[in-house]
Amino acid sequence: MLMKIALFAGLATILEDILAHAQGPASTDNYLNKCMLLLPEYSKKTPSPEPGLECSTFVGNSCCKKGVTLPFMTEHNWQNITDFPHCPQKATLEPQCHMQFFEELCFFLCSPDIGPWIVLASPDLKVITHRFKNIPICASVCEQWYNACQDEYTCTDNWYIGFNTSSGINRCHDVSQCFKYPEHFTNSQSFCENIWDNSFKVVPDDEPCMHFSYDATSGNNPNRAVAEARARVLSTSSSIYLDNSQILIVAFAILVSQLMNV
Ligand SMILES: *[C@@H]1O[C@H](CO)[C@@H](O)[C@H](O)[C@H]1NC(C)=O
Ligand SMILES: *[C@@H]1O[C@H](CO)[C@@H](O)[C@H](O)[C@H]1NC(C)=O
Repeated sequence: MLMKIALFAGLATILEDILAHAQGPASTDNYLNKCMLLLPEYSKKTPSPEPGLECSTFVGNSCCKKGVTLPFMTEHNWQNITDFPHCPQKATLEPQCHMQFFEELCFFLCSPDIGPWIVLASPDLKVITHRFKNIPICASVCEQWYNACQDEYTCTDNWYIGFNTSSGINRCHDVSQCFKYPEHFTNSQSFCENIWDNSFKVVPDDEPCMHFSYDATSGNNPNRAVAEARARVLSTSSSIYLDNSQILIVAFAILVSQLMNV
């Protein structure tokens, strides 16, 4: 009997502890100033100034270290992981398309404002452990990116899951065929949302939305307010925690009833 009471008290303490944590309102700090773990040698845990960074937008506050985009500037290939012109029809990207992908790559690797959208990557994305999902980008940003790349070729509309990556770099599956982008994507929105497996969500320019690059020299950062607004929404909605504690309460009740019956 004594043992039963001790066990009961122990379980009650654990439950109390879990509920106390679950009920405390999450702070917006939990979602801001966060970085993704991408390449260990180039990723930071939290953003900080990065003098000399090739992505000028993020020199003042960056999640990545200098050199992270190598050798994309000269090779049109990123870190021997992503080969952008991966079809035999075309060995390099057009300069305007290259520039758009460069800005998008910089945003992906270095933006200090992606925190509220970071999720764990599924294990089949071998090279990365974190990713972001549904970051709202402005429709005009998406259009510019897509329009610049009309002459490029690809063999899949989803660059996260549509390649053979067994050699470490993305290669077209034997059965897949190369077409120009407009034959894979119906419009700019389908391009921007599908190409990185819904990392981005295209929203009208008059809604809160992100830019890949901006003039940050005067301390101006239009993406910050978008991230702060999202962090506020996330920190006031505790539905996930409540669901968990409800499950715990049920589990606890089952345990208690079993103890009583023994
Ligand atoms: C890519 O691979 C080549 C050949 O293996 C190597 O020489 C080069 O250093 C690699 N580049 C990066 C950025 O890892
Ligand atoms: C993937 O590429 C490797 C060579 O790197 C090849 O041996 C393998 O058959 C390919 N798999 C598919 C499903 O295309």
